[in-house]
Amino acid sequence: MALKITVIGTGYLGATHAAAMAELGFEVLGLDVVPEKIAMLSRGEVPMYEPGLDELLRKHVAGIEGATGRLRFTTSWEEVGEFGDVHFLCVNTPQKHGEYACDMSFVDSAVASLAPQLRRPALVVGKSTVPVGSAARLARTLAELAPAGNDVELAWNPEFLREGFAVQDTLHPDRIVVGVAGERAEKLLREVYATPIGDGTPFVVTDYPTAELVKTAANSFLATKISFINAMAEVCEAADGDVVKLAEAIGHDERIGRKFLRAGIGFGGGCLPKDIRAFMARAGELGADQALTFLREVDSINMRRRGHMVELARETVGGSFLGRRVAVLGATFKPDSDDVRDSPALNVAGQIHLQGGQVTIYDPKGMNNARQVFPTLSYAPSALEACRGAHVVLHLTEWAEFRDLDPAAVGDVVAARRVLDGRNTLDAAAWRAAGWTFRAMGRPQA
Ligand code: UDX
Repeated sequence: MALKITVIGTGYLGATHAAAMAELGFEVLGLDVVPEKIAMLSRGEVPMYEPGLDELLRKHVAGIEGATGRLRFTTSWEEVGEFGDVHFLCVNTPQKHGEYACDMSFVDSAVASLAPQLRRPALVVGKSTVPVGSAARLARTLAELAPAGNDVELAWNPEFLREGFAVQDTLHPDRIVVGVAGERAEKLLREVYATPIGDGTPFVVTDYPTAELVKTAANSFLATKISFINAMAEVCEAADGDVVKLAEAIGHDERIGRKFLRAGIGFGGGCLPKDIRAFMARAGELGADQALTFLREVDSINMRRRGHMVELARETVGGSFLGRRVAVLGATFKPDSDDVRDSPALNVAGQIHLQGGQVTIYDPKGMNNARQVFPTLSYAPSALEACRGAHVVLHLTEWAEFRDLDPAAVGDVVAARRVLDGRNTLDAAAWRAAGWTFRAMGRPQA
């Protein structure tokens, strides 16, 4: 009989995973503790912006005309316990308030709610990013609290999806990593990830701690790569070099590779910043803090980029933001997402606002989320409106829409033709040709 799947938590990860599992042909039940989210998803509406996810959802959600009906949503733990053979834990593990450590409260409470409902053999599969050692602890909790006792197993199966590419990354992953304590769990997961996902995709089977560490190590490596190129940008600026050319040239070496070497105002989002901090905190608990002190530097290079952009902007408008209008293009932490968590763009905008600048922001998809985080900033309905009367324009999130702006048209509405490209994706020559003073990150000024 085909396995039945539940997905607990319906954020970027869970909603995508649930829809992807339905796409693979499984009967899927998604759970969230927020009833409004469940109501939206049940109507086939995605509570966030993720390209391609709404189509996939509408293709499968029960009750939608023409849908397969394989995907349903609920708030009932009892229903989840009865329904599922395999339960995927996809809840959020944010940074603890005021600390580096990871906040495990959502995972812990999900397991505490699920376990008492597990009355028959089941596999619980953690996908959330957690501190190493969590899986072993949660396995003990499950064994204690689940009525089915040892018939309930746990596996750890980290997820590597990127926002903006969540559907593609879930249906066509680079690799599948499973941390297991027994053969049955591995067998079940091989069944779940059988073709088409598993077709030719490397399937790495390991123990719990290694599986947990794979995720934090991968994100630490990516963060290090970005901070490395941003450190090179700092040196390029001091030496009048060009970090974009430098990245291209070193990237031709296959051992280095060209990806993740885009210098700018650095990384943000709900994963990289908090994951490197949680990793350092956990290493400290394990007595291995020295091994990760370099991540402190990775973090501080990254945060310095935001401060550097603020300084460049201040310098550009004459040394003080007082009485100056600043147009900010972009609020999300990266394009093709509406996520503003730890967004470098919003952070820069906020710092300038606090220093007395009159900031107006436009973002194609992140306006609602940005308004919630920063209600005191001004928001404009278009890029052109955000730029109206500006003494400097800051390009902080590289949406395609901004690359396509006509520098002459923008030039007609600003108070001064000055632009700072915080993502190195605007066409410098075109902006300069239209009479703009154009400055980019880690690149020669003229
Ligand atoms: C990341 C990992 O890529 C993904 O594998 C993991 O599952 C979750 O964390 P995500 O947070 O969606 O994914 O974004 P990603 O595309 O990795 O970008 C992270 C940040 O780095 C963004 O702010 C982006 O602007 C920045 N970045 C990325 C750079 O500044 N330069 C680069 O070269 C690449």
